[in-house]
Amino acid sequence: MTFSFQTDLGGALLPNPILTASGCAGSGKELSQFFPLTELGAIVTKSIMIKARSGRATPRMAETPSGMLNSIGLQGPGVDYFIANDLPWLDAQGARTVVSIAGETVEDYAVLARKMRNLPGVVGLEVNISCPNVENRGMVFSCQPETARAAIEAVRRNIGGDLPIIAKLSPDVTDIVSIAREVANAGADGVALINTLLGMVIDTNLMLPKLAQKTGGLSGPAIRPVAVRAVYQVHAALPDLPILGMGGIMTGRDAFEFILAGASAVSVGTASFGNPTAAISIKSELENILQEKGFATLQEAIGYAHRN
Ligand code: SIN
Repeated sequence: MTFSFQTDLGGALLPNPILTASGCAGSGKELSQFFPLTELGAIVTKSIMIKARSGRATPRMAETPSGMLNSIGLQGPGVDYFIANDLPWLDAQGARTVVSIAGETVEDYAVLARKMRNLPGVVGLEVNISCPNVENRGMVFSCQPETARAAIEAVRRNIGGDLPIIAKLSPDVTDIVSIAREVANAGADGVALINTLLGMVIDTNLMLPKLAQKTGGLSGPAIRPVAVRAVYQVHAALPDLPILGMGGIMTGRDAFEFILAGASAVSVGTASFGNPTAAISIKSELENILQEKGFATLQEAIGYAHRN
């Protein structure tokens, strides 16, 4: 019998469950030097905003134990440039693209959603309502149920058609399940868990924060147990809500952990900076582990750690 690696991410049917993480592969041009983008379940773009942005002041990256701190500040060319240049290129590669969008206001999310209608090669929207690198915490939409709901409702009302909406949530909340429930009720087809955790590194020689903007988002293996916990909790409470899991996935074994916790697919992020082909190794390692464990399909393994 042939093994089935397919997954359904809130209506996006993908040949395998390995995606890039937003912000870690730009719009795919650099990664495509190393492997065809069609090898991925999908590529998730860097979050696109309405206008071009140069991001936050430098330095905006710092190493941490088993991880990395970034305060990029949503640098990007703006949505019109993205649609005119990056998206046609991705489509020409045959890539399945999940576009990540980010707004400063609820109205921004509405405008971005309208621009995402009927675009070639786009299989889903990741709605980033959890970037930690914003001017004030009130702009982290996913930290309060009301603002999380408002942003996702705006996307749902304006997207038209049935493009899957995946809401990306922050782990920096008391109860991530209540936020997941809120965005699901607002029309999200799935959730992406987790964005980075807000952190800080102080340079003990200079005796000052290393990042120009002082705080940044922590990613990498250091956050994996937090991410696995979030996936497990949300899957336990909302078993029918598809989850895109991420946070420090370096190996197929790590990806398997997320699948067992309840993720229908995973995103590979920080690992790609050290090894651009990490996603491809993780894909084959995960496929081997699933078969070694006796699963005939990926579907059978999703949430397997929840059995009694
Ligand atoms: C950034 O560009 O600052 C990171 C985006 C994010 O973590 O959502």
